[in-house]
Order: sequence, then C-alpha cells, then structure tokens
Amino acid sequence: MSEAALRVIDMLKPVLGDRLVTSGAVREHHSRDTSRLPPAMPDAVAFPQTEEEVQTIVRACAAHGVPVVPVGAGSSMEGHTIPIKGGISVSTREMNRILEVRPEDFIAVIQPGVTRKQLNAELRDTGLMFPVDPGADASLGGMASTRGSGTTAVRYGTMRENVMALRVVTPEGTAIRTGSRAKKSSTGYDLTHLFVGAEGTLGIITELTVRLHPIPEEVSSAICSFTSVRSAVEAVIATVQYGIPVARVEFLDEVAISGVNNYSKLALEVAPTLLFEFHGTPAWVAEQSRIAEEICTDQGGNGFRWSTDADERARLWQARHDLFWATKAIRPGCDLYTSDICVPISRLAESIVAAREDIDASTLTGQIVGHVGDGNYHTAYLIDPDSPADLAEAERLSDRLVERALAVGGTASGEHGIGIAKLKFMRREHGAAVDVMKRIKAALDPAGIMNPGKMGQEG
Ligand code: LAC
Ligand code: ZN
Repeated sequence: MSEAALRVIDMLKPVLGDRLVTSGAVREHHSRDTSRLPPAMPDAVAFPQTEEEVQTIVRACAAHGVPVVPVGAGSSMEGHTIPIKGGISVSTREMNRILEVRPEDFIAVIQPGVTRKQLNAELRDTGLMFPVDPGADASLGGMASTRGSGTTAVRYGTMRENVMALRVVTPEGTAIRTGSRAKKSSTGYDLTHLFVGAEGTLGIITELTVRLHPIPEEVSSAICSFTSVRSAVEAVIATVQYGIPVARVEFLDEVAISGVNNYSKLALEVAPTLLFEFHGTPAWVAEQSRIAEEICTDQGGNGFRWSTDADERARLWQARHDLFWATKAIRPGCDLYTSDICVPISRLAESIVAAREDIDASTLTGQIVGHVGDGNYHTAYLIDPDSPADLAEAERLSDRLVERALAVGGTASGEHGIGIAKLKFMRREHGAAVDVMKRIKAALDPAGIMNPGKMGQEG
C-alpha cells in the first residue's frame, strides 16, 4: 500500500470507524465486477452513509492524490468498478434511503445505493413504478453512472430519460445539485446528463431524482419461435416500424434458449425466439398482441402464444434475467466474454446475422440475446479462463462485432458501457470529441483521482 493511501486511511478511520474496511475479504469483494476482467484490489473500502461523509472521503483522497472508485451493487459488466490503480473504493451500499416520493409529480428522490427492486417495492401502493430494468438488482446510482437500461427501455427509455436531477460530490469534494424537479428546463449546461454515463470518472452521485410511471392496468406477454435468426429480427423491425408500443421485446438465439431450458427448467422450443410484453388497458394489450402475432406469422413465426398470467410471465422473465448464469452453466468453470452493441434498427438484421455467422465459424461457443426493439444486443462467448487462445478469439469476435456496428452508425455499447475493455473504441466511435471529453475530465478532475484509468483519461 502506498504512503499516501495509508495517510488517507488514518484520516478517515476516526470519521468512519467500522465503515472503513481494510480486511482482505471485503477488499477482494470490491476487486471485481461480474465481468471476466482481471481483479485489482482497492487499499480500503469505505461505506459512507451521508453526502458529508462522501465529501470527507473525497477531500482526503484529493489532498493525497489517492484514487477514488465509486461502487454501487457491483453488477456492472465491463470492469467499471475495478480499482485498477488501487485507492479507496467508495461503496454506496449504506446510502440506501428513499428520501421522498411525490406521486403527483411522478418523481422519487433517492440515495444512490437504493436498488431498483427496493424502489419498486416501496412504490407499490402508489400505483407507480420505476421501469428501467437491467436484469440485475442494480443500484440506481450505478445505473445512472453507466447510463444503464435493459429490457424495458424500448418503451420507457434508459437512465438518460429517467434521471431528472442529481446531487454529486465533485472531485475536489464540493457537493452540487444538477437539474430540477421541473419536467423541462432551458437553463444552463445539462450537467445531469454529463454525470449520467460518466462511469464515476467525474464525481460521485449522492442523490437522484428519478421519473416514475403509472403501473399499467394490464400486462400481457407473448412468446414466438422462428425458423431463422433473420426472420425473428425482421419481425421485431416490422413491429417497431408499425408503431406498436411494445414494453419489452427480447431476442434469444438457440444457444440461449437451450441454456435457459437447462438452467431454469423450462421446455421452450430450441429455436430463435422473441419474448414480448405489452402494457395498457385490457383491450389495448389484446390489440397490440394481435397485431404482433400477425407480423410474426407473416415472418414465418411458429406458435405465437400470449398470456396475461402473471406467474407464467414472472417465470419467463426470471429465466431471461438469469441468462448470464444459465450461460455460465453451459460449461461449468468457463468464463463469459460478453459484448454489447447497438445499431440503427434498420441495420439490426444484417448485424445479428453476421454476428451469428462469426460465432459459427469460430472455435468458441457463443450466444446472442438482445433488447432488439432498441437495436441493442449482447454476445457472450464461453472461454476457458486459462486459455490465451480462447481470450484472443473472443476478443477478435467482439472487435469485429463493434467494428461492424460503428460502420453502420452504431455504438460500441448500448448499455454495458466502456469500463476497461471498450476503451480502445472510444476514439473510433467519437473521433475528435474524445479530446473534448478529456478536457472536461481534466477541468473537473485535474488530479485524475476519480476512477482513474477509465474514460476521459485513456482512449
Ligand atoms: C442482459 C444484461 C446482461 O441483458 O445486459 O441480460
Ligand atoms: Zn442487456
């Protein structure tokens, strides 16, 4: 441990007591996320409970040039929270209070460690919900920091659309408010959306004001299998272009379906498959699924089955959300090399077909799943953790995937973010705008202590 980190720990111990932890197990827990990326240990992990404590931590680190790495639930997938330069990991786990719910304004004010399931449980009696659902029970601060989204973004938007205002502790330890409770504003730079997606490189989010939505009167789900990847994706494109406001539309390829069948004890037909969800009045969800069925049948879909049964729906979505673990279980002991791109919807079919062909022609097993209504999908390649050849092959496949996405005006990540592995694409995607990002980073964090080695400094 560096002299500087020791001095910071000495300064913080009297303030945080047991909530500044240097034990091996806790540091080890904060050395990794859910990605395959190599771990790195923080020097200590802090568990502040208030914004003032966050300010004290950041000021101590700033005084000694020690890295600060904000951490939410740790469910990120590209190494965002791995403290690659050591320092203090600042967990928001104990900042988990819902401060205010204002149903009449459709907003909630929360601390950053509140998880999306916790918020929705609290909201249940109000008839409102927070819809953004990345699958994991992520913290809202982490979701904002990664501009997360997931299965419902096609209808409700991502964190970009659902964060109205923030409180943030800047790299020199000042607490600021960005945004307001008003639905719109034309004053000032949009700092809220600078911090949303900044991956903890510009400050630590200490409070969020988020948008709430009415719980729909009726929810229905549907499932349909297809004879080819292309026909499934064409059905999605036609559904979106028709203007049906699907709440979710997920694609799972054959590898994913057989993984789900094994892991979640389902008996789905092993074929490229779409899972839909519709929200609205009973008549409106029936109408939406009737049109979707027509479109799927036109594209050669088989056995379109729809249901308003809540248990069946919960089972299906739980299986979808457990897919990461289902895929790992295909070959026990394997690592998953995951990737995530997003393309304009008109380019989605060719993009997914090419990704599938690449996997079929490679030495690796891989699967494709996606939030296809947004043109966003993920690949996962199974790799032997001890095989440099597997790693190189997965990287080659992921690079080709991203290069094809960029070539059609897409992005290197729809929702998993830049973290560590995707840094190399920043300049390819953003060109000279990367230099503007670096200037913003240098202006806000001249000492480079906020999540160092990540966006804004490298790339
Ligand atoms: C999902 C996460 C991994 O879609 O993005 O399951
Ligand atoms: Zn996803």
